[in-house]
Amino acid sequence: MRCLLDLTGENHSEETLYRQMQFPPAPTDRPYVFLNMVSTLDGKITLGEVGDTAMGLGSSIDKELMKRLQDNAQAVIIGASTLRAGHITYPSSLWRAVVTASGNVPADCRFFAEAPDRAVVFTTERMSEEQRNALQDVAHVVVCGADRVNLSLALAFLRRQLGIERLLCEGGGELNFEMFAAGLIDEWFLTLAPKVKGGRHIPTTVEGMGLPRERVVQMQLLSVYEHEGELYLRYRRQG
Ligand SMILES: NC(=O)c1ccc[n+]([C@@H]2O[C@H](COP(=O)([O-])OP(=O)(O)OC[C@H]3O[C@@H](n4cnc5c(N)ncnc54)[C@H](OP(=O)(O)O)[C@@H]3O)[C@@H](O)[C@H]2O)c1
Repeated sequence: MRCLLDLTGENHSEETLYRQMQFPPAPTDRPYVFLNMVSTLDGKITLGEVGDTAMGLGSSIDKELMKRLQDNAQAVIIGASTLRAGHITYPSSLWRAVVTASGNVPADCRFFAEAPDRAVVFTTERMSEEQRNALQDVAHVVVCGADRVNLSLALAFLRRQLGIERLLCEGGGELNFEMFAAGLIDEWFLTLAPKVKGGRHIPTTVEGMGLPRERVVQMQLLSVYEHEGELYLRYRRQG
């Protein structure tokens, strides 16, 4: 692995990159939030079809870095489609939260089974009674809005009720957009895999409605590492 740029003043090797990181302190009303995604050069977040997992996208080093970033977090948050895509598993010590308006998430998956006391479902009043009963057995179910989950309220819950100071967001693209739009992403760790997928219907790292020109989020590049053409980028939100 090569260090191409590191404005943190550090110079890491494959062994040390993203281990025991220092982050700015969390605000009082939400955790400090860092996003981690891997994409193709054209921004796609799966090599398969819509709804498939990210399998095969990143290298073994990317997977190792993903684990290290999880080790730096107290909780992780994902969108419901990412959970529905399957194969989501985390260390049992990590709080895990899923965001769903519909409540349509499988109650019998590893995401819940591996840590029933540390699982949270952020949902809306749209969730059916039946689904709520099923999920209440495996997670803390928190209603944060009528039609959409108010993500600022959800993150305030994590900070104030659970004491979470460092939150890792792991996508997908829809949730990422809503998090950026609400000003809730502080840093972005982006692995760029030297692959091209194409396909206008295939999700990209940030989806949603798009931000108006005057609200586009400005990010500052903090570091760039490289291994066999794969780039490990770290950005911090400016201002
Ligand atoms: N390459 C990577 O690093 C990476 C990382 C993660 C995921 N992925 C891939 O990305 C794809 C999924 O991404 P995606 O963009 O389609 O979906 P997503 O962001 O994972 O999930 C979207 C869903 O999350 C819920 N949601 C998000 N924000 C909400 C809000 N504010 N209020 C209420 N509900 C909200 C809704 O759930 P309901 O529909 O239940 O209402 C929505 O349909 C999968 O193929 C997955 O494998 C790749």
